Amino acid sequence: MNSPRITAVVLAAGQGTRMKSPLPKVLHALAGRPMIHYVIDAALAAGAADVVVVTGHGRDQVEAYLAKTFGERVRTAVQAEQRGTGHATQIALEKVAPEADLLLLLCGDTPLLDGGELASLVKLLAENPDAPLAMLTMRPADATGYGRILRDENGRIVGIREHKDASAAERAITETNPGVYTARAAFLRDALTKIQPNNAQRELYLTDVVALAAPAGGVVSQLVRDPMNVAGINDRAQLAEAEDVLYRRIADVHRRGGATIRTSAKIDAGVIVEADSTIEHGVVLRGATSIGVGAVIDVGCVLTDVRVAASALVKPYSVASSSTIGEKAQIGPFSHLRPDSDVGPDAHVGNFVETKKTRLGRGAKANHLAYLGDGDVGAGANIGAGTIFCNYDGFQKHKTTIGEGAFIGSDSQIVAPVKIGNGAYVATGTTVTRDVPDDALAIARLKQENKEGYAARLKSRLKAAAKK
Ligand code: UD1
Ligand code: MG
Repeated sequence: MNSPRITAVVLAAGQGTRMKSPLPKVLHALAGRPMIHYVIDAALAAGAADVVVVTGHGRDQVEAYLAKTFGERVRTAVQAEQRGTGHATQIALEKVAPEADLLLLLCGDTPLLDGGELASLVKLLAENPDAPLAMLTMRPADATGYGRILRDENGRIVGIREHKDASAAERAITETNPGVYTARAAFLRDALTKIQPNNAQRELYLTDVVALAAPAGGVVSQLVRDPMNVAGINDRAQLAEAEDVLYRRIADVHRRGGATIRTSAKIDAGVIVEADSTIEHGVVLRGATSIGVGAVIDVGCVLTDVRVAASALVKPYSVASSSTIGEKAQIGPFSHLRPDSDVGPDAHVGNFVETKKTRLGRGAKANHLAYLGDGDVGAGANIGAGTIFCNYDGFQKHKTTIGEGAFIGSDSQIVAPVKIGNGAYVATGTTVTRDVPDDALAIARLKQENKEGYAARLKSRLKAAAKK
């Protein structure tokens, strides 16, 4: 038998009032990605071939994000007015392909869903060919607000009662509905035509299909492995709690892969951390960052979209974005690599050095207090302390090119556009305004004059002036 074709439906039309934000709830991010991203990832990991997301509040933003991130595997269905989870699912079904055998029904605000657990729910339904529906259940410490699972005297699920509709006896039930189901498509299409808004909220409840499944082959259930997996996010306190869980999960994946990750490091989803690397306390790794084998990112560094090659060392409190750091290169402490910095293998960028759109060739060094903008620094060149690439004239940016093995003396200003040749030497304190040929010395500063015995005379004059 072919494996069934699964389409996931993700309900995400609600406003999320308690987030107190113009941003739609499901676009609030944790560990670097909007919560709905994780829900879709889990659905795909569980074997869904495609996903239909029901959008409503802030739908333009949600749709734009989904299209950009997932392309054609994720479609959207618009629920203009939120008339309940059953109504939202009806609208989703209009966008579900007729070939779909099973539907995986999820909510967009549960970012900690586990793909493996959803896969086992799908499997549970496959193993019970008579049952039209499988669902997760849970036993939270406090059941307030959740739908309660109604079972008959044989323990079979016969329905779900929403908290607002429940009697006192029903509210005493501790088994609740986390809102995660798989259903046979044919059953669900039919069942959704039968539900009615006869309830406290005058809404169409998706949960009412459970009572229809019970006599039509039964409902199979599975207790959630960890209640956190189905935690719904309603406010920013819950968002922070879920993010903590995610950071721990992400770090543990990298730890099992052989990296040392200190407990206070924050590594976003999607960051690559290779074996035997060390991510120290307080490090934040974001976006499309990757850390090579054996690299060390020391305390307090913040790297966003940075590729760090094997055995590189990023010393404490360095900040880098959209840049690359070569093999065995050393950065920091307190370096700032701005976008398009490309630090070559074995190169060094030291404390209080800022780079932007600048390449440093193999083994080049800029160890102290420099600004290197719009530059190309050849292999083995040495940039002295206090060097400034004067790249901006107030209107345009200009390029500085420094040849291989060149030496730039401390406190030099390189006024771009300008080229300094291979092996050239720029004397300390020089303002370079013209190209320097290969192997030439450039020196532009006043000649020093020493006045014998003048220091004592000067001091007594200054002292007398201060007494007046
Ligand atoms: C729902 C369940 C409840 C369960 C709980 C788990 C129903 C009727 N009840 O209740 O049994 O215990 O989830 O968290 O299903 N949504 C739409 N369109 C709508 C209404 C909701 O897209 O018209 C979306 C929301 O954005 C949200 C999800 O569906 O992502 C769940 O809706 P919500 O209002 O939170 O349902 P609950 O009342 O919590
Ligand atoms: Mg809810």
